[in-house]
Amino acid sequence: MQAIEDSAGPFDPKAIAPRLLDWYDVHARRLPWRRLPGEARQDPYKVWLSEVMLQQTTVAAVGPYFAKFTARWPTVADLAGADDADVMAAWAGLGYYARARNLLACARAVADTGGAFPDTEQALRALPGLGEYTAAAVAAIAFGRRAVVVDANVERVVARLFAIDEPLPGGRAAIRFAAGQVTPDERAGDFAQGMMDLGATICTARSPRCMLCPLVSQCRGRAEGAPERLPVKAAKKAKPVRQGRAYWIEREGRVLLVTRPGRGMLGGMRALPDDGWSAGGDGALALAGDWRDGGVVRHGFTHFDLELQLLLCASPEEVSLTGGEWWPVHDIEAAGLPTVFAKAARLAIAERNG
Ligand code: ADE
Repeated sequence: MQAIEDSAGPFDPKAIAPRLLDWYDVHARRLPWRRLPGEARQDPYKVWLSEVMLQQTTVAAVGPYFAKFTARWPTVADLAGADDADVMAAWAGLGYYARARNLLACARAVADTGGAFPDTEQALRALPGLGEYTAAAVAAIAFGRRAVVVDANVERVVARLFAIDEPLPGGRAAIRFAAGQVTPDERAGDFAQGMMDLGATICTARSPRCMLCPLVSQCRGRAEGAPERLPVKAAKKAKPVRQGRAYWIEREGRVLLVTRPGRGMLGGMRALPDDGWSAGGDGALALAGDWRDGGVVRHGFTHFDLELQLLLCASPEEVSLTGGEWWPVHDIEAAGLPTVFAKAARLAIAERNG
């Protein structure tokens, strides 16, 4: 690309990586899954695990989960040998449970082929659950490959640097192309993480701190005067609200839990029995019994908000439900319920304790 002159000074995409890397060498965030610049590369298993966890989830939320997983399953072979139920329960609370199912499938695929992760973006892409982002991130961070890594932070930084104002999601193609122009051949992993850190700490969504930015002289969004308006996002549709019911059936200090079918929403997770709200119909599978109102739990999913009515069983001996397990109520934390059911369980326990 030719250098373009504008009020920000000469715009040269090649000037961006060296400045950003110099900044990263000093300001890299210390994160549990990260090796700092100059240190030996991180174990690919840990890079992969952290990148899967970090999709759709904040750095702060991931920390304890990363620590728990790596203590319990220190290698990909350990994870591959784990029981599905243990992994799903350990994942509980992180959300997007298809990621946990794919995590296990991927660990098993890697273990079956000798236990080493492939070291190219293309071969990584063939593993279960590794999409464009994760394959690029692992190739760059774990193996030092040149790969263009674009997450939401990088997207924001690049949209501003190049003043790309085509609204997302359509604008993603232009952002990706621009990200490719600034990605260096060497240290692409540090570059990607530096862009992420810049986005998280300086080039923030609402009030970017341009005075501290190592790329300020290269930033066309800043030169045009209002970097915070970028990237432009298409107006969000209002989320529909769905209704459902969940049942708290308790006998002798134990509550009935089911394991949800492997596919579909919250698939493979332990849960309270419910009326099938996730399958689309509101309350299609009402459970016969003598119920008392236990209140309403609200929970936001990606595509809808759920109002889940909690029903408490007045005469548990009359409920007939096959399958499931009677879980000690005092140890409900250990069941690994996904957040919506963990909220319902807290409500039921508060209700029963008066
Ligand atoms: N978000 C996703 N991956 C990350 C990483 N490696 N460092 C910081 N933030 C991230």
